[in-house]
Amino acid sequence: MESELRGYAFMALVNMNTVLTYANGCGCAVGAFSVGNMEMIMGAVRAAEETGTPVIIQIAEKRMEHSPFHLMGPMMVSAAKKTAVDVCVHLDHGLTLECVDEALGYGFTSVMLDASLLPFEENITKTNEVIKKARKYGASVEAELGVVGGNEGDAAKHETTYTNPEKAREFTRRTGVDALAVAIGNAHGNYPVFPELRFDVLDKINKITGVPLVLHGGTGMTADMFKTAIKKGVRKINIATASFDALAKYAKIYCGSSKNPDYFTLSANMVDGVYGNVKKHIEIFNNS
Ligand code: 13P
Repeated sequence: MESELRGYAFMALVNMNTVLTYANGCGCAVGAFSVGNMEMIMGAVRAAEETGTPVIIQIAEKRMEHSPFHLMGPMMVSAAKKTAVDVCVHLDHGLTLECVDEALGYGFTSVMLDASLLPFEENITKTNEVIKKARKYGASVEAELGVVGGNEGDAAKHETTYTNPEKAREFTRRTGVDALAVAIGNAHGNYPVFPELRFDVLDKINKITGVPLVLHGGTGMTADMFKTAIKKGVRKINIATASFDALAKYAKIYCGSSKNPDYFTLSANMVDGVYGNVKKHIEIFNNS
């Protein structure tokens, strides 16, 4: 397996620091793929196993209206434990401390409370609260500074507020957060206008903090954009919309082309759609 060639021992369910250490070691980024049902989990872990690459599977609190957490949480952790490569199970864009507690209770190995819309001091306070909780479980913590554009399963569309590098330094020093999500012109969802990423800002944040950086809103970015971001310290890249779209596209093609669509073939097609999208991104992130 490629993982063995890299001299790295994979052990299934791991925290985010473990996969970030791996990414730092090989100068690549780990893909963090959003999942909303069983087929999405299966597609993501199949791509990870086949490429011998550690992966993060994640779910955002806002998505739980469609994908109840009490069903998704245990299923994600169980899938990670049975996978032949390292898998980190992450809470993406947690909105409440209750959800963070629930995630840690299910055995999530990484959590994010998105306090990016709160004032700077409150973001620090909330992040430190989350870190205190997570450390008891050996889980890692991601926080966000600046505001990523678009929306994450949310009706509200947010305008980008670029991450200030000096504030990022203060934030990472006062929290000791494991990974920092940055706002450099990236946005969640399908882009209405193609984004111009501020790599100069990313570069400054990377040099000034030395903390693994997270790029949200990966859907629609080009391979070159990913590669430049990785060169400038991005170690975790979030992909959601592209996987949801791939699942829907495969389901539509199958249902449209079969006279008598059946659930079992439909399910297999949904897995295939997600698998193809995840694998494509893993290969880009690995070859940086
Ligand atoms: P996309 O839906 O744009 O891929 O964004 C994913 C994301 O950042 C999840 O937090």
